[in-house]
Amino acid sequence: MFLTFAPLVSLLGLFPVCDARPASYAVWAADSGIARGQGNGLLANGSATVSYEHGEFQWGLRLLYELTGNKTYFDYIQAGVDNIVFPNGTIHGDYEWVEQWTDSGGTGPTFIYLFEQTGQAKYKTAADTFRRQLNGQPRTAQGQFWHKLMYFNQGWLDGIYMGEVFYTAYTNAFDADNATAWADITSQFKLMFDNTLQNATAPNNTGLMYHGYDFSHTAVWASPDRGHSPEVWDRALGWYAMALVDVLEMAPPNSGALKPTLLNILNVLAPKIQDAADPTSGVWWLVITEPGRTRNYFESSGAAMYIYSLLKAVRLGYVEDTDGSIVAAMKKAYNYAVQNWVVPNSNGTMDWKNTVHVGSLDTTGDFNYYVSQSVPLNDLKGLAAFLLASLEFEKL
Ligand SMILES: *[C@@H]1O[C@H](CO)[C@@H](O)[C@H](O)[C@H]1NC(C)=O
Ligand SMILES: *[C@@H]1O[C@H](CO)[C@@H](O)[C@H](O)[C@H]1NC(C)=O
Ligand SMILES: *[C@@H]1O[C@H](CO)[C@@H](O)[C@H](O)[C@H]1NC(C)=O
Ligand SMILES: *[C@@H]1O[C@H](CO)[C@@H](O)[C@H](O)[C@H]1NC(C)=O
Ligand SMILES: *[C@@H]1O[C@H](CO)[C@@H](O)[C@H](O)[C@H]1NC(C)=O
Ligand SMILES: *[C@@H]1O[C@H](CO)[C@@H](O)[C@H](O)[C@H]1NC(C)=O
Ligand SMILES: *[C@@H]1O[C@H](CO)[C@@H](O)[C@H](O)[C@H]1NC(C)=O
Repeated sequence: MFLTFAPLVSLLGLFPVCDARPASYAVWAADSGIARGQGNGLLANGSATVSYEHGEFQWGLRLLYELTGNKTYFDYIQAGVDNIVFPNGTIHGDYEWVEQWTDSGGTGPTFIYLFEQTGQAKYKTAADTFRRQLNGQPRTAQGQFWHKLMYFNQGWLDGIYMGEVFYTAYTNAFDADNATAWADITSQFKLMFDNTLQNATAPNNTGLMYHGYDFSHTAVWASPDRGHSPEVWDRALGWYAMALVDVLEMAPPNSGALKPTLLNILNVLAPKIQDAADPTSGVWWLVITEPGRTRNYFESSGAAMYIYSLLKAVRLGYVEDTDGSIVAAMKKAYNYAVQNWVVPNSNGTMDWKNTVHVGSLDTTGDFNYYVSQSVPLNDLKGLAAFLLASLEFEKL
């Protein structure tokens, strides 16, 4: 339908020669999601929804718009946000302030972007609503935002992406001299890192971060020492990794300790993420702490998030890749992804496979929980991450 195909010979042997390939997987992923009506602020039944995965897709469409100048992508973002923001700036749909859910913040960066692009006050009003939510967000005694009011005293890695990318974008745009905000954002990353990083005495140590922690140690899954959850879940760490590079890119010079702190964390994690990849396939297990265990599998959203984060980290000089091994590892993973998780349809769209639907700490947080979750086709959390990974891969 709308695909063009690159000559097979020009791809330097990165790809298998057996199938024709689109000129841009980023364009293909974006156009396929759009053709299916994904990420447009609506549920399948037409009800408005304030959804972090729509925000993630919009972030990718925005980068694609900036790269191509194709206004189709911008218009899709705006139409999607107009489905959840009334003309007076009130956010509607299923958004409930009283839930104090950090995940809501996932659409916040798009509000700010649309305000900057269009000057329309409603987008600023909507962004202000989320910013006020952060001011009232409950915190642990150390200052970490709770993931949600019902998740008492819990910090989850996913919440760092949802909360801090928006918090940074907002502070950058409207409140750049607010040293308290910069210190707070820095602290959110640092507390999460210190409270969830696996250490050398942990069984199956990967040097990566557990999904979350409960500062009050009351959750059934909380460890006796730091209250962390039992497993390293690939997508939680993927959100955290994306937050590191996206916040680093936005942070202005006067953001205090934010940049050095995030650079330190990123330089600890990047080689460990590389090490944790399965040596044969080059991609990562859903439960990274239990490689090869029956029912564990290679999960696609976490992989796409790591590829995006590490390629971006190298491209922007946040992580040195003197021997080229990080880029080589991400290319290998990307190649696996397109061979195994991208399925061409006869109508010109692509399908995206192997993204786990959810991963939560609302029950046991153990291996059996993670491997029991459904894996729907075209889950937007994974498709959007693949769009982001493709944008980085295609910059190489
Ligand atoms: C394209 O084909 C796929 C697979 O048959 C189908 O699921 C999808 O709905 C089609 N998409 C559009 C936009 O027609
Ligand atoms: C659409 O689905 C959501 C979630 O299941 C539900 O809350 C909402 O009421 C439904 N809307 C309509 C118009 O049926
Ligand atoms: C913009 O993107 C859409 C969707 O891929 C495509 O149909 C259209 O031809 C593109 N427009 C231009 C000017 O390239
Ligand atoms: C904003 O507009 C919506 C939809 O028209 C309306 O329900 C709501 O009361 C308005 N809010 C304010 C604060 O005016
Ligand atoms: C600065 O940020 C802090 C922390 O988020 C917040 O409490 C305060 O209201 C902000 N100050 C202004 C002037 O916005
Ligand atoms: C390292 O992790 C183990 C297992 O969670 C824990 O028992 C130990 O206290 C931790 N050590 C430090 C220094 O955090
Ligand atoms: C360590 O990994 C092995 C192999 O996947 C697994 O059987 C075991 O349960 C893991 N142990 C912990 C504590 O995660």
